Amino acid sequence: MKPLGVAVVGAGYWGPNLVRNFRNLPEFDLTWVCDLSRERALAAIGPRSTVRATDALEDVLADPGIDAVAVATPAATHAEVVLACLDAGKHVLVEKPLAASVAEAEKLVSSADEKGLVLMCDHTYCYTPAVGKVRELTHAGALGAIQYFDSVRINLGLVQRDIDVFWDLAPHDLSILDFVLPDGCAPETVAAQGVDPIGAGHACVGYLTLRLAGGGIAHIHVNWLSPTKVRTTILGGSRRIVVWDDLNPTQRVGIYDKGVQLNGSADSEARREALVSYRTGDMVAPALAEAEALHRALQEFAAAIREGRPALTDGASGLRVLKILEAVPRSVDKDGASVPVQL
Ligand SMILES: NC(=O)c1ccc[n+]([C@@H]2O[C@H](COP(=O)([O-])OP(=O)(O)OC[C@H]3O[C@@H](n4cnc5c(N)ncnc54)[C@H](O)[C@@H]3O)[C@@H](O)[C@H]2O)c1
Repeated sequence: MKPLGVAVVGAGYWGPNLVRNFRNLPEFDLTWVCDLSRERALAAIGPRSTVRATDALEDVLADPGIDAVAVATPAATHAEVVLACLDAGKHVLVEKPLAASVAEAEKLVSSADEKGLVLMCDHTYCYTPAVGKVRELTHAGALGAIQYFDSVRINLGLVQRDIDVFWDLAPHDLSILDFVLPDGCAPETVAAQGVDPIGAGHACVGYLTLRLAGGGIAHIHVNWLSPTKVRTTILGGSRRIVVWDDLNPTQRVGIYDKGVQLNGSADSEARREALVSYRTGDMVAPALAEAEALHRALQEFAAAIREGRPALTDGASGLRVLKILEAVPRSVDKDGASVPVQL
């Protein structure tokens, strides 16, 4: 099958990773790299290459050999660049966050729908073998009813100038949550608290609590000021509990057949003790392929285009993440009160 002609737009920090991965995939033929700085585009391509560099998006969009564009420009520019690509009839992979606001994201999703084009959001973590395994378990019902999702993403992080810690880090956890939750567990309310102890002008430490349909809860802790790095997510179900530690290469995922159960109703303290039972079964650490998440994401992009179906992390998933992010300041302004979200 003829490879898909593809261009990368935006060759700053992340764009070169797209360039490298497109080159390693037989599904694609990387033809253009575009950046406002042509030098940066050239640097991403490297010497002795037939890939073309330009500082004008029009060059890319006018090329009939281009089927798809990957956009890695800053979030504030996504709406304009992605709409131009869709208008030119190109399928689009756009870096997270999908856009800078829900209103912009809605335009992108409806434009792609109208034109029958693939709009995929690069929620890269969703394509790690570990998160893929967690999704497989939740969607097969192996965890039972979802009770809680608890995610910690903290380290001595780069304090961003233009966005707070929620916008910087929480999209990762929110996109993973969106990816792994089975139907019927969507977030319904958001409560957020953030603090700025160093005077950065916006929150550097943040806590998000989401109430899920079906009675579950999700909690996300993001923090730029922690001396230690933690990237751990626990997903508790009535039958099994999964622990994903992204920093533990020898055992990233553990599936625990452990839990606590209350049998019958506890109408007195003594009776309650008799009714609580602990299940202490095995822990299984599944063998996971060592594969680069971005490589798998681009394979999914190609498959969605070829099969004419939405990508696993389609525009709609990017929009749901943005709806939660936009609810954060509404809750923060009410000192952390729960505010509804309609996903
Ligand atoms: N998936 C991930 O894990 C991941 C990681 C890092 C960044 N990102 C995302 O990638 C995107 C880019 O982030 P970055 O850190 O690489 O930013 P960056 O500022 O390092 O690079 C952006 C590049 O885009 C270029 N650019 C800006 N507007 C343009 C336009 N209209 N046309 C062509 N080029 C344009 C700039 O010249 C710059 O070279 C952001 O959305 C960011 O959130 C994703």
